[in-house]
Order: sequence, then C-alpha cells, then structure tokens
Amino acid sequence: MSSEIISLLNRAGQTKLAQYLESAPAEARARIEAQVRDIDLDELPGLIADYVMKKPETAIPADLAPAPFLPFPPDTTEREAYYRKAAETGRDLIRQGKVAALTVAGGQGTRLGFDGPKGTYPITPVLHKTLFQYFAEGIARISEKYGVQLPWFIMTSELNDIPTRNFFKNNNFFGLKPGQVTFFTQGTMPAIGYDGQLILAAADSLALAPNGHGGTLLALRKSGALNTMKAAGVEYISYFQVDNPLVSPADPLFIGLHALEKADISCRMLPKTNPYEKLGNFCMSAGHCQIIEYSDMPAELAERKKPDGTLDFLAGSPAIHVISRVFVEKLTESGKLRLPWHRADKKVAFLGPDGSVVKPDSPNAVKLESFIFDALPLADRVMIFEGDRKELFAPTKNATGVDSAESCRAMLSARDARRLKLAGVSVPDDAIVEISPRSVADDEDALAFFRENPVAQPIRPGEARSFGK
Ligand code: UTP
Repeated sequence: MSSEIISLLNRAGQTKLAQYLESAPAEARARIEAQVRDIDLDELPGLIADYVMKKPETAIPADLAPAPFLPFPPDTTEREAYYRKAAETGRDLIRQGKVAALTVAGGQGTRLGFDGPKGTYPITPVLHKTLFQYFAEGIARISEKYGVQLPWFIMTSELNDIPTRNFFKNNNFFGLKPGQVTFFTQGTMPAIGYDGQLILAAADSLALAPNGHGGTLLALRKSGALNTMKAAGVEYISYFQVDNPLVSPADPLFIGLHALEKADISCRMLPKTNPYEKLGNFCMSAGHCQIIEYSDMPAELAERKKPDGTLDFLAGSPAIHVISRVFVEKLTESGKLRLPWHRADKKVAFLGPDGSVVKPDSPNAVKLESFIFDALPLADRVMIFEGDRKELFAPTKNATGVDSAESCRAMLSARDARRLKLAGVSVPDDAIVEISPRSVADDEDALAFFRENPVAQPIRPGEARSFGK
C-alpha cells in the first residue's frame, strides 16, 4: 500500500513528499497517506501548472454587462405590492418548515487573528455575545415566531469542527434543541509551495486548508446534509457567512422573492460606495450571471458611469444567498462539482530540515479555494435583490479598521438604536445599545417588544445598555 502511494506521488511530481515517506516512521506515514488519499493526484499536476507556477488571469468576457436586480426599497406601487406578497410567501415557507438556515463557518479567520473558530468570537457591543450565540438566539426567536424549529446547518472544516461542536455542547446549544443543529464538514485542499511541492506542516501531517466556501455545495451532498434537508421537507437554504451578524438568518421577503421568481440561487446585492470597494461585481455574460471579483475588474469597467452619474457596475455582493435545495442536488448529482479554483498566496508554516516548524515571514505557498458564487453561471435562474447595507452587512474580517470587529459592533448598535427609535425610545448619538435577537428578530418584533417592555429609564449619553432576554 505504502509503496503504491509513493509511486503515485512520484508520478504526480511530488518527489519531496515521496522521499520523506520512504523513511518516515510508520505512524506518521500512515497519517500522511490517509491525507494523500483524499487528494486527486491525477488532477494535481495540472493545478500546479495552472495556478502555482503561474498566476491565473481571470478572462473578462467582451460582452460583460451589469446584472439586473430588483430594487430596494421598491420603486413603484406595483412592486411594493409584489414585495408584500413575497414577504407573506416567505413567512408561509418558514412556517411550513421549508426553509433552513446555513452558516458557512469553515474559514480560518486569519485576518481576524483570533485563536479558535471565528463563530466563537465575542462580537456584540454590550454583552459580548459570540457570533454563534447571536445567530442561535436569532434562530430561536424566528422558530418561536413562526411555530417551527428552523433547522440550522453549520459548515465547519476539519480544522475547526471539534472545537465548534464542543462550543455548542458546552453552551447547551444556546437554548436550541440539539437536533435542530446539523454540523457538516467541508473538504480540504493541500497548500502547495512555490516550488510546486506539497508542504509538510508537521512530521505526521500535510499542510491542509479548507477548500473555500464553494466547498459548501459538495460538502452538503457528501455529508448527507442534503438528504437530511430533503427528509425534513426543506426546499430553500438561507445561506450566510459566520462573520456577518447583521444578516437575518431567515429573511421572509428575500426567501419569498426567491420562491416567486423561481430562482435556483438568489443573491442580496449592495450598491457599491466606490468603484474599488472590495465586493464582487454582479455581471452578465452570454445570458448567465457571474461575479467578477473586485481585484479582477478592469478599472475602465469599474469606473464606468451611467448618464445619471451612478456606477454602471453598481451591484456588489455581500455573500448572502437563498439557494434551492434541488439546485444543489442537480449540481452535485455525480458526486463531483468542478468549480474554478482561486489562488491565494499565503504564509504557510512548514517542517524544517531539523524537525522544527518554521513560520515564514512572507508568502511561500499557494492555497486553492473555490467560491460559492461560481455556481451562479451554472444556474438557469438567478435573482438579485438590492439591500440596505445598514441592515444587512457588517462583516468581521479584521481586528480593527475597515470591516472589523469594531465596525461590526458599531453597525449592530446603530441598527438596534434605529429599532429603539422606531419604538419611540430616544437614543443619544453616543449611546451603545444592544437588543437581544432572542427577543427581536425584525422591526415588527421591536415594536411589540418595547410596547410590552417600555423603557422606563431614559438612555443616558454615552451609556451602554442591553435590552431583551
Ligand atoms: P473569508 O473568505 O472572509 O475567510 O470567509 P475567513 O476564513 O473567514 O478569513 P481569512 O480570509 O482567513 O481572514 C467568508 C466566509 O466563508 C467561510 C468563512 O468561515 C466565512 O464565514 N469559509 C471560508 C468557509 O466556510 N470555508 C472556507 O474554506 C473559506
């Protein structure tokens, strides 16, 4: 068995690893061989040639045009009525148990620099609840409101699966029924050094990384989660990222529009604030929707304006989707799904010649990831729906600055201040407020909650105060 793997590795050009395995202790060899078996060694040389030895360039189609989207707020009374009907449809679908929430939480969160799964990061501005707790409470409130147990699927990676599960267990699933939460694990890809060789992270392990959020689709199939959804009668998957607590785990309007529009996959979109904002651009080419990443968008297209002065390619992606279960089934029917790879240059720690682990100061390796939005061109029908950034998107990518824990907390507080004001409570500009998502899932809830629980003590300037259970 062992010599077979060694010859396969040699044939795939992985001479360094083959040589290492020749003399590695049996236990270490067995572990690494198990990891190697998960790698498609036939495909590997091609990937190295295309993505590691050169930097792949994204082809920009000549017919690239902005993708159409449904505007928000609605621009006509007809549309307003349509959205009302969509919200009612969405509420019915949630009530009927046809909707599941799906959080992708398999990433490594390297930019945040936090030791542990990103979902265990304390995010709320007053009580410092973690991202997972915040979503769990939101899901508990939505479940209560619609009289269902909204199923929650959480994608982990091999690197954070056990700590994630333990976190939920140790916190009694934050009041959810354990059976309501399904964890499933995405695949990995090996890091590849600039010399085209696989990297050892330790004496008994390759350097592996999660294969990107595009890995969600195949992981749903391979883990059996897709079957679990089908058996439970789930038809629509409300997809969001673990680092964006501002998003609703199940938004009736968005879900209802997806259903009425008979879309395979739907996307929220945000109007970009400037041509170079770091959001993928929703585009059309040859009748199909696709996302061109901000880094790949030619400047002349990014900057192009309509006669009214707005950006032509206005629509940016906050990675919030509704996906039809049957679409995922169709895509993954063969047990394989070839989404394009994206190259990321990373600093990958490696086993040095003396057996110690070396942390490089500059990137030394390529990680390959696939992205969920690369499923868009594979869909027959895509629906794109504009959103209000202040209500939808507060990504926690960095510890400070832009898209950071700091900016996320400020946005959570601002959204909750708006809801307090909606309910007639005055909130000084510099107060920090937090409404529990266990009590309030939306504006309607906020009105009802503060009617039943009036705020007796005025909120003082500079005060930090939380509301709800
Ligand atoms: P990001 O691409 O922003 O990456 O993930 P990240 O891993 O959180 O952070 P960095 O880039 O290392 O700093 C966006 C979302 O997709 C999930 C993340 O958990 C996050 O919710 N994701 C990303 C996965 O689930 N799997 C992956 O392989 C990559």
